[in-house]
Amino acid sequence: MPPIYLDYNATTPVDPSVAETMQPYIAMHYGNPSSMHVYGRAAKAAVEEARVRVADLLGCAPAEIIFTSGGSESNNTVLKGVVYTHRHKGDHLITSAVEHPAIIAPCRVLEQQGIRVTYLPVDRTGMVDPDDVRQAITPHTILISIMHANNEVGTIQPIAEISRIARQHGVLMHTDAAQSVGKIPTLVDELGVDFLSVAGHKVYAPKGIGALYMRSGLALEPLIHGAGHEFGRRAGTENVIFDVGLGKACEIAKADLSRYQREVRQLRDVLWQELYKRLGDRLVLNGHPEQRLPNTLHVNFRGVIGAELLEKLPELAASTGSACHAGEVALSSVLKAMQVLPELGMGAVRFSLGRYTTPEEIERAVELIERVY
Ligand SMILES: Cc1ncc(COP(=O)(O)O)c(C=O)c1O
Repeated sequence: MPPIYLDYNATTPVDPSVAETMQPYIAMHYGNPSSMHVYGRAAKAAVEEARVRVADLLGCAPAEIIFTSGGSESNNTVLKGVVYTHRHKGDHLITSAVEHPAIIAPCRVLEQQGIRVTYLPVDRTGMVDPDDVRQAITPHTILISIMHANNEVGTIQPIAEISRIARQHGVLMHTDAAQSVGKIPTLVDELGVDFLSVAGHKVYAPKGIGALYMRSGLALEPLIHGAGHEFGRRAGTENVIFDVGLGKACEIAKADLSRYQREVRQLRDVLWQELYKRLGDRLVLNGHPEQRLPNTLHVNFRGVIGAELLEKLPELAASTGSACHAGEVALSSVLKAMQVLPELGMGAVRFSLGRYTTPEEIERAVELIERVY
C-alpha cells in the first residue's frame, strides 16, 4: 500500500486529465506562439484557450490573466511592480504576519530599498481584523496584500471587507490565493481585489506554472522585461505545455468546486471527529473553527514534537508546524503570530486532504495515529 497522502497544501498530484491535455503540446504542437505559421498559430490558440479557462474560474476577462511561473512569481510581480510603478505616490505597504514567505521575503527586500511595510497581527484563529487594516492605512499606502487562505492553518481572511476598505482609501488590493483557488470560491469581483495570485501545483497542474489576475486598466512595471509576451506584462516565450495544463486544471476545479467543498470537508471533519473521539483533549485544533479551508486540519498533539510523531508514521505523508534545530523546537511564524504556546505548537501537524482522499484512507490514518501517539 502506498503511504497515505495528506499533504495537498504542500502540493497536489497532476490530475490525469491535465497530463493528457498537455501531452500533444510536448511533441506535436511545439510551435512558438509568436510565429505566424500554422505551428505557431496552434500553440497561440492553445495558450489563449487556457487563458479563458483560468479566467472562467476567477470570473474575470481573459485579458486580465497573465501566466507566470507560479505563486511566488505572481506575488513578487505585484509587490515589486506596484512599488516600481507607484512609488511617487507613496512608500507604504500593508500585509499580515501570517503570509507565505513568497510575500514576506519580497517585502523584506523592499524594506531594504526604503519601503515601509506594516505586518498586521492576527487573532488566535489566524484572522486579520479589517479594523486594523483601516487603522494602518496612511496617505502613503500604495498596496494592501493579504492572503486569501493560510497555507498552514487554513484560516480564510475577510478579503471582501478588506478590499472595500482599500477601495474607500484609493489603495490597491492584492490577495495571494495560492491555497484557496479550487478549494473555495475565488471570484475576483466578489473578493473585490485588483490582483490575485494563483499557484498551479496546488490545483492539480504541474509545479512551475501559475497565473496573476490583474484588473483591467491597471498598469504595472513587469518583473521580467523582454519581448511583448503576456500583453507586455511578463516577457518570455510562453510555457505552452504548462499553460495548457493550468487551463485544464482550472476548468476541472470550476466543475468540481461544489463537490470538493462538500465531500472533502466531510472527510476532513470525520478525520477530526474520529481523532477527537479517541484522543480527546490531548488534541488542540488550530485555525478558525468555521472560516477555514475545507481540506485543512491543523492540530497540536500535546506532549510530543510534531516531526517526531510523523517520523513514527511512515505510512502517512503530512506536514509539521514546527521545526527542530539542534534539539530546539521553533514554531512556524504563523503559529507564533497566532500566539500558540510553544509547548502546544511543538506538537503541530497539518493534515491537508484533496481530490483523491478516500474514506478508507481517513479511517486508516486515524488508526495509525492512535497506535503511535
Ligand atoms: C500561500 C502560498 N503562497 C505562495 C506559494 C508559492 O507558490 P509557488 O510554489 O507556485 O511559487 C505557496 C506555495 O507553497 C503558498 O502556499
